[in-house]
Amino acid sequence: NATITGAVFTSHVPAIGAALDLGKTEEPYWKAVFDGYEFSKAWEQDNLPDVVFLVYNDHATAFDLSLIPTFVLGTGAAYPAADEGYGPRPVPGIEGDPDFAAHVAHSLIRDDFDLTLVNEMEVDHGLTVPMSLMFGQVDTWPVKVIPFHVNVVQYPVPSGERCFKLGKALRKAIESYEKPIKVQIWGTGGMSHQLQGPRAGLINREWDNAFLDRLIEDPEGLSHVPHLEYVEEAGSEGIELVMWFIARGAMSDVEGDGEIEVVHRFYHVPASNTAVGHLILNNKPSAAAAAKE
Ligand code: DHB
Ligand code: FE
Repeated sequence: NATITGAVFTSHVPAIGAALDLGKTEEPYWKAVFDGYEFSKAWEQDNLPDVVFLVYNDHATAFDLSLIPTFVLGTGAAYPAADEGYGPRPVPGIEGDPDFAAHVAHSLIRDDFDLTLVNEMEVDHGLTVPMSLMFGQVDTWPVKVIPFHVNVVQYPVPSGERCFKLGKALRKAIESYEKPIKVQIWGTGGMSHQLQGPRAGLINREWDNAFLDRLIEDPEGLSHVPHLEYVEEAGSEGIELVMWFIARGAMSDVEGDGEIEVVHRFYHVPASNTAVGHLILNNKPSAAAAAKE
C-alpha cells in the first residue's frame, strides 16, 4: 500500500518566485532565504516520493468571489502555472495523479469531508513557490502532485481542528491506496504576515516559533487555537497556517519515540512582508499500515 514518508511545511511568498525567476538568489537579501532551503533540496532528492500531496491556498486566481469552495481536491491530470499579472512563472506544469486522487476523493468523502473536486485549474504562487523552494529550477518536476486547496482568503475559513481531523482522514485514505507508492504531504502558507491596513508588515517571531514548537509536540492542542488569535498575533494572512494542520494530522502523533523525527527547521525574517517558516518531518507508517506490508 501507499505510505506517507514525510511532511514538509513552508511559507510561500510571490517575491520568492520572482527572485528565482529573475536570477536574484545570490543577492544578500534573498540568499539568506534560499540558504535555509539548501539542506531541504538535497534531502528532497535523497527522499524523493512518487507523489506530493500539496496543501496550499489559491489567492483569487483559480477561485475568486464568484466561487468559494472550502476544500478542493485536484483530481485532474495536469495543472498549468497561472498568470498572476506578470505572465505565468517560467516553471514546468504540474502533473497530477488522477487514479490516486480518485481514491482519496472516495475515502475522504465517505469519511464525511464534503470536498469540491476539480479536474481543471491553474495553480498560483501558493503551489509553485513551495515547489521551487524544494526542487529548485528544473525542466520537469520530478514528482506527481495532488493539489489540495483550502479557502483561507474569504471568511468563513475552516478551523484548525477541522483541518487536523481532515489530515487524520487523509492518512487513512492514503494508506488504503493499493499501489505501493511513497507520498509526502506538504503544508504551506504562513507564517505571520499582514498585507493590508494599519498593521501591514506585522511579524511576530515569538508567536511563530511557539507555533513551530507546538506543531511538533502538541498538534492536536494547537489546532484548537481560534481564528481570532491568528489574526491578532500573526496578522490577517497568518490564518494561512491552518493548512499546516492537514499535513501534520496525516503524520504520526509522537515525537521522540521514533514515530516522527524533526529533520530540518528554519525561520527567517524578512521575505517580502512574510516571516518564512520551514519544517521537515520524517514519518513512520502507522502500525496498521506496517502490518499490511
Ligand atoms: C505575500 C505573502 C503571501 O502569502 C501572499 O500570498 C502574497 C504576498 C508577501 O509577503 O508579499
Ligand atoms: Fe499567501
